[in-house]
Amino acid sequence: MRPYEHLIVDIPDYPKPGVVFKDVTPALADAQAFSAVVDDLSEHFMGRGVTKVVGAEARGFMVGSAVAYRLGAGFVPARKPGKLPRATISESYDLEYGSDALEVHADAFTPDDVVIVIDDLIATGGTAVAMARLVERSGAKLAGLGFFMELAFLNPRPLLADVTDAEVFSLIRVE
Ligand code: PRP
Ligand code: ADE
Repeated sequence: MRPYEHLIVDIPDYPKPGVVFKDVTPALADAQAFSAVVDDLSEHFMGRGVTKVVGAEARGFMVGSAVAYRLGAGFVPARKPGKLPRATISESYDLEYGSDALEVHADAFTPDDVVIVIDDLIATGGTAVAMARLVERSGAKLAGLGFFMELAFLNPRPLLADVTDAEVFSLIRVE
């Protein structure tokens, strides 16, 4: 068991009946736990020439930007529609509790970039698939995807395998 696992709190029936929401904010608020999460994710992807980390609004920003800093990489925010000021590319996706779309600036990645996706959590995999597509459409190399927590019981990996053969790494898996 990872030393920060006990800080994740289950919230039944949030945001809608039948969903057990995994609240990672207590782990982010704990100084030791937060740095351990960031260090463990960063260590996994160190030495692979990562030039950019992409993270999804909003929780992906919290972990992704810290990992980018630790790796000496840039950070690209994948934002909800209409939030970015310049030309964007967009991908829509389904979530456990709805559907949405993510956008990055059209020039956020170049074909020379080596990119990893970082997010707090992968559930159905829809958000991660959208980010993987945005990276691959730009011609950059997707070197891997890293998550603080994977809801393995929702079986997100086959969906991802349809769009990328990049490695998927999770610190905590919930079976
Ligand atoms: C959460 C989480 C992931 C996504 C995972 O974000 O931070 O990005 O859901 O779900 P999926 O694997 O089924 O796509 P959410 O869209 O709830 O937005 P938030 O970060 O603004 O809370
Ligand atoms: N994002 C998608 N499903 C989630 C869940 N069950 N808990 C927290 N974040 C989520």
